[in-house]
Amino acid sequence: MGKEIVKIFDTTLRDGEQVPGCKLNTSQKLVIAKRLDELGVDIIEAGFPVSSPGDFNSVVEISKLVKNATVCGLTRAVKNDIKVAADALKNAKFPRIHTGIGTSDSHIKHKFKSSKEKIIEIGYEAVKYAKTFVNDVEFYAEDAGRTDNEFLARVCEKMIKAGATVLNIPDTTGYCLPSEYGEKIKFLCENVKNIDKAIISCHCHNDLGLATANSIAGIINGARQIECTINGIGERAGNTSLEEVVMIMRQHPNLNLDTNINSKLLFDTSKLVSENMGMPVQPNKAIVGANAFAHSSGIHQDGVIKNRETYEIINPCDVGVNESAIVLTARSGRAALAYRAKKIGFELTKNELDLVYLEFLKFADAKKEIKDEDILLIIKKSI
Ligand code: KIV
Ligand code: ZN
Repeated sequence: MGKEIVKIFDTTLRDGEQVPGCKLNTSQKLVIAKRLDELGVDIIEAGFPVSSPGDFNSVVEISKLVKNATVCGLTRAVKNDIKVAADALKNAKFPRIHTGIGTSDSHIKHKFKSSKEKIIEIGYEAVKYAKTFVNDVEFYAEDAGRTDNEFLARVCEKMIKAGATVLNIPDTTGYCLPSEYGEKIKFLCENVKNIDKAIISCHCHNDLGLATANSIAGIINGARQIECTINGIGERAGNTSLEEVVMIMRQHPNLNLDTNINSKLLFDTSKLVSENMGMPVQPNKAIVGANAFAHSSGIHQDGVIKNRETYEIINPCDVGVNESAIVLTARSGRAALAYRAKKIGFELTKNELDLVYLEFLKFADAKKEIKDEDILLIIKKSI
């Protein structure tokens, strides 16, 4: 049996762009949207059209540009938001309106000063109204992570009745444990009568570092869409990282799940987003960090030089990185030194290597990292 496809809903240009200091202008957004389309994301959340004229304009231009992906605009469960979003999406080949409301006790009591029944009614009317403009309507139950499952199931059933095609279950505050979030999705699959008429979507935040784990727990339990961003950028500690969930599915064939993403573009896309947003990627970031395929300890280097798979579970070429890096530090051994010397044209005999290695250790203790030009100098000094 073929693998089931999990849709990738990219929100780099909406949730990602909410990060202070990461604001993009329309032309930068267009460059990123074009790349996301080439990368193979299924849905691009292009912005929150009612929030500002600039955001409205970006959604208009992205709608004109994108060829393959669905283009989505965020709204509150407010008629004017929905009308403005529909207007901004007019030129999209595949438009989607993403509307919703908070469903947790905390949101209902403090944010809306309302009741559960009223919240369901507002959500229902919003979905119905959005359906008058587009067929594809996604409903988000904000703070679903802290919403009681029985109530969440009632909300979902009602929104599907109103015509929602996708139900977004956000862990808005990044609170859930993977087991809890997975249980929540399972509960919805088993208790929402009309669930076969909609797709469940995971939208997880990273406040406890669990966004990726929670999204994976979600798809294992029946969700078929993940909302994520390039480099995991997003509010506070960020959103689920696109590159991580995509590669988890690729590296674990037993999940029997895959995406439409061309993973060879991941590294380059990460760089593009990081440069445009002025947001550096941490070196130890999974998949796309500068050290994700770099080996510096002697034991690991020896293994990788003999066979890459001893210490790497992903072939760097699969994510667009040319090769694994053997970084020379004071923790490196002879095998790594010989390997790097060979790369710059020196095939050292065993005796030569012993001499060069002694000199290398003196250098390496004084420097963080030994570069090619240092190796040349060390070889000249020692043999
Ligand atoms: O985190 C969240 O709940 C959101 C919604 C607006 C979808 O970003
Ligand atoms: Zn969010």
